[in-house]
Amino acid sequence: MNTSRTFPKDFLWGGAIAANQAEGAWNVDGKGVSIADVVRGGIISGVADKEIDSNKYYASHEAIDFYHKYKQDIALFKEMGFTLFRTSINWTRIFPNGDEKEPNEAGLVFYDNLFDELIKNGIMPMVTISHYETPIHLVNEYGGWESRKLIDFFSRYCEVIFKRYKDKVKYWMTFNEVNNMHKIPFAAGACRIEDGPNKLQRVYQASHHMFVANAMAVKLAKKIMPENEVGCMLSLSAFYPNTCHPDDVFGAYEYRRRSLFFSDVMLRGKYPSYINRILKEYKIKIEKEENDEELIKDHTCSFLAFSYYLTSTYKAGTPIFESTGGSMGYENPYLIISDFGWPIDPKGLRYVCNELYDRYQKPLFVVENGLGAKDTISEDGKIHDNYRIEYVKKHLIELHEAIEDGCEILGYTYWGPIDIVSAGTGQMQKRYGFIYVDKDDEGKGTLERMKKDSFDWYKKVIESNGEELYS
Ligand code: BG6
Repeated sequence: MNTSRTFPKDFLWGGAIAANQAEGAWNVDGKGVSIADVVRGGIISGVADKEIDSNKYYASHEAIDFYHKYKQDIALFKEMGFTLFRTSINWTRIFPNGDEKEPNEAGLVFYDNLFDELIKNGIMPMVTISHYETPIHLVNEYGGWESRKLIDFFSRYCEVIFKRYKDKVKYWMTFNEVNNMHKIPFAAGACRIEDGPNKLQRVYQASHHMFVANAMAVKLAKKIMPENEVGCMLSLSAFYPNTCHPDDVFGAYEYRRRSLFFSDVMLRGKYPSYINRILKEYKIKIEKEENDEELIKDHTCSFLAFSYYLTSTYKAGTPIFESTGGSMGYENPYLIISDFGWPIDPKGLRYVCNELYDRYQKPLFVVENGLGAKDTISEDGKIHDNYRIEYVKKHLIELHEAIEDGCEILGYTYWGPIDIVSAGTGQMQKRYGFIYVDKDDEGKGTLERMKKDSFDWYKKVIESNGEELYS
């Protein structure tokens, strides 16, 4: 029975990673080079090389070697009681260059084995189809999602993986944090778009191609695997007005729409009216083909997945900085800040869930939330990460409140349940895990896994379906 202290009985509990941040094996079994493989120092702050420089260190090349160690890691996830595990399929394992006609069988076999292992252990796999892993060839040859040709390449990739894994994977997401097209177009859209007068034109055009590709994916999914679900995925950390000054209030509202524009199109099936003014004022002309609008209208996503890490505030006239966790505006004096400068705001998660459910009335999925912190090994050889327990506990309580508020929330996958490479900084020292991995920022370490204190705590939360949060 669902009492007010437990989560709904079918609530899905687990963790989330991305292939490029965990698997390593960057050139094994026919894999091609992805955009993450040419980045040093993180996908935002780092340098994206045109090709691999063998004298330099790329953190994703070995990452935590999940490619070879997934069985032992899944055993630990099972021990924690995961019912769901989100990962991405690395596009370059399936289509190494992205524009081939035939897929790479060895890559497909890897994900068969990975998903089978999860299922054998009672864990449902959830897949992000594109998580900052577009083949670099598609960037160098076509200009990434600025080219309409990517719609066909992506559709072919979707068709192959849908047919192959339709009986193994129920929940799919097309593009990780698609609204990051504004902040980090190289990561989100595989386009080398620099700041400048043309930026918005290029961002909106590339985004349009992704909207069509998203609709194509939903269409294909309905045909190939009608029982399964395809969602869109956004970074939706919230943005508050810094004061009640109307310029701050409306500015924050407008800034939020910059993100919600993406879910508006993918969930409601049409370009929202507010975008017309932006297109007009910035003289943006989106090239569309005849059937694009109909396709987008007829094939919308069935759920909204999102990441939530932090909140920030908008104060008119002050700069906004971008990070993987969301946008960073003027500081909020009511919040404390993580080791890596991210404001911690559990109540904001409840706020965002309500905001999104009110707007769309479609199921929500919290597929990323977590604390990146500097963990240290104590004298007793253990990691006492109470700060992480506190972070997750407070966020889960607010998530539970959101459910009590009436929001339909399918599940929660904690980001980085095992330490992985940070997308934003390329570091290992920015650790999210309940499981420690012995590796440092220079790539040194045994890769051995060790449970932190949070491991047993999260296990109890899942076992009790949330009741532990109130003990
Ligand atoms: C999200 C990304 O933006 O934030 C992940 O989807 C990323 O790939 C996560 O790892 C946390 O960001 P970071 O920079 O701390 O790794």
